[in-house]
Amino acid sequence: MGVFRHDEIIETDSVYMVNLPTPPARFFASDNFSGAHPRYIDALSRANKGHVPAYGNDALSHRANELFNELCGVDVEMLCVFGGTGSNVVALGNVLQPAESVLCTQWSHINVDETGAPEKLLGAKLQDVASVDGKLRVSDIEQAAQAIGNIHHVQPGVVSITQATELGTLYSADEISNICDAAHSFGMRVHLDGARIANAVAALGGNAATFRSLTFDAGVDVVSFGGTKNAMLGAEVVLLPRTQNSTRGKLIRKQFTQMPSKQRFISAQFVTALEDGFWIETAAHANAMALRLYEALADIESLQLVRPAVNSLYPIVEPAVKKALQEWSFFWDWDLTAHQVRWMTSWDTTAEDVDAFALGVRQALGFS
Ligand SMILES: Cc1ncc(COP(=O)(O)O)c(C=O)c1O
Repeated sequence: MGVFRHDEIIETDSVYMVNLPTPPARFFASDNFSGAHPRYIDALSRANKGHVPAYGNDALSHRANELFNELCGVDVEMLCVFGGTGSNVVALGNVLQPAESVLCTQWSHINVDETGAPEKLLGAKLQDVASVDGKLRVSDIEQAAQAIGNIHHVQPGVVSITQATELGTLYSADEISNICDAAHSFGMRVHLDGARIANAVAALGGNAATFRSLTFDAGVDVVSFGGTKNAMLGAEVVLLPRTQNSTRGKLIRKQFTQMPSKQRFISAQFVTALEDGFWIETAAHANAMALRLYEALADIESLQLVRPAVNSLYPIVEPAVKKALQEWSFFWDWDLTAHQVRWMTSWDTTAEDVDAFALGVRQALGFS
């Protein structure tokens, strides 16, 4: 610890004085704060031997694609990319047509956290709809569809949903299936931002069939499958069912500057992740740690904690206590006007981290 300068991020004029215990060894800020699991580092080392063909023509990339075919239940074009934003842009670029928009929620990462990359790179309007829980609904699609055929209105072409959502909520398989049916009935396609799909799969059944039920079996047309938040190192992939025209996906990826030349290093991690379901294990652990934190603090009413579905909690903490806690063990603000913050666990969060963090929160709130 000590490498993260939280005083660069938050103001340090807190006047709230409280003696807090030893902080946890790891932060509760983000699953991106954690490093990579040693199994992935080993996979990278093993892949780091000799010369192999570039741009995905190597044995590890072929193996990773086979494993994704098995996982998806359909043959997919596996488009490895460098990051989650790139993944979303490449995925959307594969299913958008000219003069079309992308329907998403107000909270969606593509809408608020991608610096306008989808709009700039795709040249498409994002139509964000209000949502209290981060989920898009069939009624939103029906409402947007009223513009279809009106030559003065952008045409809703793609519905983008996030699973698990940016608010830590989950769509059921039936909800996704209903969204896909509604979208398809209006000629729209469906994109699933799965930056945290592993956490969703772990929470909703924990196996490959769960993944399929939430994605391609439900009718999703393209998936951004995340690895980086789930213990990998720069490993993200777009999954696109193979068609006769499947080289188009690779062309779009290259145009959006997301084509890794030494793809073996990304593929090696996905082989390790998928061969024995390891990707679900690490996510299940992160989810379990969030639940442990919830159970340790649920009695404190002022926090207004909701039982977590995946690996994040969104408590209410009044400003002075919040500052003291952030200076003690950094975490992000979520909604400043509501005094809401986000606590997030990761693959490497330990029970000791949770207990130490919970103790600090209790003491800061006078509950020890
Ligand atoms: C829902 C969601 N999608 C995508 C991303 C990927 O973003 P990045 O480009 O930072 O990897 C994130 C990261 O926070 C996310 O939360």
